[in-house]
Amino acid sequence: MRGDTQDQSEDDQQAAFYQDVVAGLSQAQKTLPCRWLYDAQGSELFEAITELPEYYPTRTEVAIFKQHLPAMAAAIGAEAHVVEFGAGAGTKTRLLLDALTAPKSYVAIDISAEFLAASMATLAADFPALEVIPTVGDFMNASDMAATQLPQGNRLAFFPGSTIGNLLDCEIVTFLHSVRTALGASGKFLIGFDLVKSEDILVPAYDDAAGVTAAFNLNVLARINRELGGTFEEDSFTHEARWNAGDGRIEMHLVSQREQTVAVNGDRFDFKKGETIHTENSRKFKMDGFMKLASEAGWTFKETWTDGKGYFAVALME
Ligand code: AVJ
Repeated sequence: MRGDTQDQSEDDQQAAFYQDVVAGLSQAQKTLPCRWLYDAQGSELFEAITELPEYYPTRTEVAIFKQHLPAMAAAIGAEAHVVEFGAGAGTKTRLLLDALTAPKSYVAIDISAEFLAASMATLAADFPALEVIPTVGDFMNASDMAATQLPQGNRLAFFPGSTIGNLLDCEIVTFLHSVRTALGASGKFLIGFDLVKSEDILVPAYDDAAGVTAAFNLNVLARINRELGGTFEEDSFTHEARWNAGDGRIEMHLVSQREQTVAVNGDRFDFKKGETIHTENSRKFKMDGFMKLASEAGWTFKETWTDGKGYFAVALME
């Protein structure tokens, strides 16, 4: 593994976290940027979510990959330099790297430093011929990192998991455009995105019977307590998953169970009973809607693959 990663220092991270918490909790609709859900605990909880019976996206996307990776690899070509945004546990990365012909390098950009270090060490051991370059950072600023860290050649951006669905449409276009600029004219992009489906399937996927998603959402409050000296009380907030049909997205909220005041490092925030903190958006796309956003950002669809139920899609863009 290469050592000269562009890690954001822990102090910078904490300062950014504090700023986001104060700014987010000062708004009329309180919000917290979803990136803060993913510390070591949050990333572990997210991995547990991917195995829940209600959470269809991961297993559906993995099935699409297992069925169509030979075709994907043929379209991508040999000796690829791959950059992945939000590398996570690396299950899909392994599937892709196994299917590609002689991949040369792999730049992994992830927000959780601990999680990244652990998963990249095992990946590097399993793919000795591959140059593995872990980089800590937010995928929204990732295209700069991609441009500087990724060698010239057959460049491929890999963004599975519908993580793109965390973004608002305007941010999606900005992000896709910045990746296109970073990769250059011959760059390709293999991206997974979740599709609109019945609310009866969507809501339980984000509000599971075992309460893992609730724990994942509530962890951000515990993280504020741990890292910023917050005074959030356990059980004073509950998890809610809402389908926002107008914006085509699942929203995660934390609902205040009573009127209360919470302090974070000296700042005080008042909550009414029932008031929420909006913690995450998970966009569900229509195929042509996603194509339109991608084309606004300068990408064209080369090929798309979906599962039998049309729950999830993977597209290769160029
Ligand atoms: C990691 C953003 C793809 O939106 O499905 C899962 C996050 N949040 N359950 C998603 C998530 C709650 C997940 N992404």
